[in-house]
Amino acid sequence: MDTRTDAARADAVELLERTTHARAFGPGPLPPMALRRIVEAGRLAPSLYNTQPVRFVVVRDPAGYERLRAACNTSRDTFFKGRKFFALMNKRLANPAFVEGLERQSTGDVLPAGGAAIVTLQDDAFTESVEACACALMAMQLEATACGLASAFSSWTRGLSFQKDMVEFLRVPKGFKIFTSLVVGNPLTPLVAGRKARRSMDDAVTWI
Ligand SMILES: Cc1cc2nc3c(=O)[nH]c(=O)nc-3n(C[C@H](O)[C@H](O)[C@H](O)COP(=O)(O)O)c2cc1C
Repeated sequence: MDTRTDAARADAVELLERTTHARAFGPGPLPPMALRRIVEAGRLAPSLYNTQPVRFVVVRDPAGYERLRAACNTSRDTFFKGRKFFALMNKRLANPAFVEGLERQSTGDVLPAGGAAIVTLQDDAFTESVEACACALMAMQLEATACGLASAFSSWTRGLSFQKDMVEFLRVPKGFKIFTSLVVGNPLTPLVAGRKARRSMDDAVTWI
């Protein structure tokens, strides 16, 4: 029996079309069980040989989330202080597309206010743990959209591995790194399809 259905395939694409990088969140509590559903999606995501090298820290308490936001700003400020040095070490940091995004985040808050965060932790003992984290993040973002929430990835959390108090606060186990995080919150405007610019099918895909 062919268990593939058009409905299932349309679903992921449709969720992706409604998913954009949220820069602000609306007020009010999150829908009940939404955070649990989102981390459940991350927990079920695949990993190499089922090594499951990812852990999740859910920062749902508003004071804790504020602390995370402040720490991400510190992480950004530290990056900017050493930016020239980092650019010498990693030529990709000079890529215009990256620089443009970076300039936008050089001031202000890197995480939107009024959300909750799912911080992903990467077990450095396993190869392909980066890919596993990426799979978990994307699974969680799709579930966030399915729950009607706005969401964004933040790579600024990676710098928190160098902030001792944050490593303690997030209860990061030994051998783990703080990886990219997902922040979620109430949408300010309804999540609708067709708001984002993407490379065309012809440009993005080679069929052989
Ligand atoms: C792994 C990953 C990490 C990201 N980290 C950040 C980040 O730290 N700051 C940020 O503004 N956007 C971050 N983004 C979001 C991208 O900027 C966003 O996907 C892109 O701008 C497209 O936005 P759209 O989905 O709203 O069209 C990240 C995206 C990915 C996939």
